[in-house]
Amino acid sequence: MKFFLDTGSVDEIRKANELGLLDGVTTNPSLLAKEKKPYREILKEIVGIVKGPVSAEVTATDTEGMLREGRDYAKIADNIVVKIPIIKTGVNAIRTLTSEGIKVNVTLCFSPTQALIAAKAGASFISPFIGRFDDISSEGMQLVAEIITIYDNYGYETEVLVASVRHPMHVVQAAMIGADICTMPYAVFDKLLNHPLTDIGLKNFLADWEKAQKQ
Ligand code: E4P
Repeated sequence: MKFFLDTGSVDEIRKANELGLLDGVTTNPSLLAKEKKPYREILKEIVGIVKGPVSAEVTATDTEGMLREGRDYAKIADNIVVKIPIIKTGVNAIRTLTSEGIKVNVTLCFSPTQALIAAKAGASFISPFIGRFDDISSEGMQLVAEIITIYDNYGYETEVLVASVRHPMHVVQAAMIGADICTMPYAVFDKLLNHPLTDIGLKNFLADWEKAQKQ
């Protein structure tokens, strides 16, 4: 499974990239608004660090506006992926950008029918937002399972990008279900490697080794 970072913070991207485990980045207007720098400038910095797909979301809600913004983002670098919300006006924007060779990540997906439409329109990625379901006492991961079944049934190549991840268990569940990608905040990424028993075990091994050296 590929690991993407869901952030607009260049510092976080640099830190995650140091481990060589970062396969891509997703951003959204809320995340980039926190950074207090022009959207385009941040994206340029990010593509300078990450070789994999970097999603940049349109803010227009009409087809023409989405196309204009999407084409403009695509000029920044070859690995820019345009993020389009799954609304009626987005469908033709997904189809047109895809036909122009620009990859599209369809965002704000909350139902299997939305995911089916995104795949039919030619999206490269579909982003089911699982944490937002969990926030309202619903099972977000169920949606991911349904999308994978539907895509497998028809051989759609749209990659399932699990988004709105809140904790490492979401990453585990996404991997168990067979999602292609999990995009996560840095705080979640940072916890994936930790285990207290690893720390205690290592501490004890080193203490025993030290003792043996003195004897
Ligand atoms: C995905 O691409 C979105 O940027 C993101 O995962 C949304 O997550 P949130 O529900 O934590 O805002």
